[in-house]
Amino acid sequence: MLSDSTPLPWRTTWTEALYGKQGFFRHQAPADHFRTSTNSSGLFAAAIWRMVQAEGFAQVVDLGAGRGELLTELHRLSSGALGLTGIEMVDRPGDLPADIGWQHELPEHIDGLLIANEWLDNIPCDVVESGADGVVRYVLVDPTSGAESLGKKCDDPWLDRWWPLTGPGERAEIGSSRDEAWADAVRRVDGIALAIDYGHTAADRPVLGSLRSYRQGHETDVIPDGNRDVTAHVAVDSLVQLTGATLTRQVDALKVLGVTGTRPRLELARIDPGAYVRALSDAALSAELLAPGGWGNFWWISVDSRPVA
Ligand SMILES: C[S@@+](CC[C@H](N)C(=O)[O-])C[C@H]1O[C@@H](n2cnc3c(N)ncnc32)[C@H](O)[C@@H]1O
Repeated sequence: MLSDSTPLPWRTTWTEALYGKQGFFRHQAPADHFRTSTNSSGLFAAAIWRMVQAEGFAQVVDLGAGRGELLTELHRLSSGALGLTGIEMVDRPGDLPADIGWQHELPEHIDGLLIANEWLDNIPCDVVESGADGVVRYVLVDPTSGAESLGKKCDDPWLDRWWPLTGPGERAEIGSSRDEAWADAVRRVDGIALAIDYGHTAADRPVLGSLRSYRQGHETDVIPDGNRDVTAHVAVDSLVQLTGATLTRQVDALKVLGVTGTRPRLELARIDPGAYVRALSDAALSAELLAPGGWGNFWWISVDSRPVA
């Protein structure tokens, strides 16, 4: 828990709250606080495994790997044949299979698939607000209470280009920190770099911004105190322009990879009740991965750096 109540720009407090010495992700496993496509079941990993096989990749690097949930499942599915590496700021989980690599920084070169599920939304941004006078200013926040005030005027070309504010009270998160981080990851990859996250484009920016906090499975007050997650949706169109990425909704990407959410036929219940129950559970978990307004709406932001055949 952070104890200094000096109001500072959001990007500073957010960085400290998640990644500082007492930061949330230094001490907390993401799966203990929120469900993601990768930690909710093995179905997402199975789809990624089908993709990896179809592309002929021998290596997968998971950026922001949590506690290695996706990698552990890929390791099982591939019977240890895939080269797997987790990139995480926390130390290697004790129960990770020994031949999965684990490091704190991205390697200079990645041959295969780089995947980053719900990583970009946790990259801290500056937050700005248009005041009563229409002037756009940085939002300052007291890390102990979440109380906000407006600081100095913001003049930022990213904002002008991607998220211009048009009236008092409107807010935005400046996405250039995400752009830079993603471009840095993409440049290392010979293969496919795939970020998966919730986001928006110029057509549907949230007028009041999208800062949120979560703890123990629930949305909470947004406070950068190190005691909760702090996240904001990703401006995906600026990533596309910077890195030449393509955008696909998760529902469409996963359907291509064989995730359908189709319920088993009722007669299976009579022939093999156990198989029926398992298939029913898989159908429910698949439907969650495809859900409109939920994970199905996530963007797959994909850059394929291989020469066109
Ligand atoms: C929201 S969690 C997602 C975990 C996992 N990918 C999943 O889908 O469940 C984000 C993770 O990214 C890690 N992370 C964030 N920035 C990082 C960085 N620059 N280097 C390594 N890990 C990072 C955090 O520690 C955290 O575990």
